[in-house]
Amino acid sequence: MNFDFNLVLNSFPLLLLGAGVTLQISLLSVGFGFFIGMFVGMARLSKIWAVKTLSLIYVDFIRGTPLLVQIFIIYFALPIVAGQRIDPFVAAITACSINSGAYVAEIFRAGIQSIDRGQMEAGRSLGMTWGQTMRYIILPQAFKRIIPPLGNEFIAMLKDSSLVSVIGFEELTRRGQLIIARTYGSFEIWLTVAFIYLIMTLTISRLVDYLERRYKIDDKH
Ligand code: ARG
Repeated sequence: MNFDFNLVLNSFPLLLLGAGVTLQISLLSVGFGFFIGMFVGMARLSKIWAVKTLSLIYVDFIRGTPLLVQIFIIYFALPIVAGQRIDPFVAAITACSINSGAYVAEIFRAGIQSIDRGQMEAGRSLGMTWGQTMRYIILPQAFKRIIPPLGNEFIAMLKDSSLVSVIGFEELTRRGQLIIARTYGSFEIWLTVAFIYLIMTLTISRLVDYLERRYKIDDKH
């Protein structure tokens, strides 16, 4: 078979636009997921039974069901209850943020638990509240330690965001499908799509390595 290089060249700009959208969904989702995860991660460690149980149910449900099904629930099932269609962009961001939040919650929980118990005791014995100790003492230290897993979560989300192509949202994977529908160039286009994802994930993992090294050095001061 012939590899049609022209097809790759001609489709590249359109695919790059799709890659921009993929990057955008991933950034927004992990950004929202970060805040959801920070609160849910702390809630998982709460002494209040209801808070602890609710956060555990959220994390278990989200991590125990496929993201694909969650996207279908938000895009197809929820509008039946709400009586209103949801824009694919809103549905995609909502599903991915709620999903990412559960993974980030576990990252935060582990990060907070990795900080010596004595830090909380020290803060409390100085008269700080639980919230103040968390905010000024525990979280800043935990944050440095969770940079690598957060980077992994971002890379995972970047790849898993390809699932939102099923609701017709035009990110990189969906753009690839649409171009193939017109040109029949499955081979060239899927290889190019894979290549673009690879370039993005490699770049991000290098960036995370750099951040990790930078914060390690800071730790010694
Ligand atoms: N592949 C898993 C699923 O289909 C995880 C998807 C979400 N990934 C993530 N890093 N938030 O459920």
